[in-house]
Amino acid sequence: MGERALSKQGKNGLIIAIDGPAGVGKSTVARLLALRLGYLYLDTGALYRAVAWKVLDAGLRPEEGAAITALLPHTTLRMECGPEHVHVFVDGRDITGELRTPDVTALASIVSAISTVREWLLPVQRQIGAAGSVVAEGRDIGTKVFPAADVKFFLEADAEIRATRRYRELVAAGHAVQFDQTKRDLTGRDDRDRSRPVAPLIPAPDAERLDTSSMPAEAVVEHMMAVITAKL
Ligand code: DC
Repeated sequence: MGERALSKQGKNGLIIAIDGPAGVGKSTVARLLALRLGYLYLDTGALYRAVAWKVLDAGLRPEEGAAITALLPHTTLRMECGPEHVHVFVDGRDITGELRTPDVTALASIVSAISTVREWLLPVQRQIGAAGSVVAEGRDIGTKVFPAADVKFFLEADAEIRATRRYRELVAAGHAVQFDQTKRDLTGRDDRDRSRPVAPLIPAPDAERLDTSSMPAEAVVEHMMAVITAKL
């Protein structure tokens, strides 16, 4: 599918792109927005996590790029997106509950720097979002996946605050983690996502940049709704 097909004309609803680093609140606000608008919530990080899950399941190491690439044609990946829920199936198995472990999280950032992995996931993401009425969140939605998205936001927040949010999420999910390690993992992942040669984490030139350090999720959503409503 070419990028022209994803332009602003001929769609039923808007394509809303939300990018930013880990722990900045993208998933929370994307879900809330999708719910408010009755749109699909497209969690693209879950797709990179699914590839990481498959790599771990196959017993491959992150540095085995050629073997990871060779695995892709033998992998079926399906994503069910609702306004709030996301289910990911790899080779027919629902692996949604296994996508947020620290191992999968670390590996997702590494495999996402492999260009063949990104190329393989691009049509998957575009197919889900092409019809419009979607809130898509990730790292390269506004720059690469949907460069003609109707509304683009790039969220930012202080690393200490992002690490605190991530630490609380992990503890709430029952993971035995230390704050300092969580912060090191998060900033390491950001550095990797920002510095990779393919589709690095950078704001699209036409994205609105929002610092969420001192904004509760509801305030971010209210601001975004005002911008979006003006486009509807
Ligand atoms: O958003 P997340 O934490 O679930 O994403 C996991 C990893 O996937 C992240 O470290 C970078 C990668 N990713 C990406 O490269 N591009 C995207 N659009 C989404 C995620």
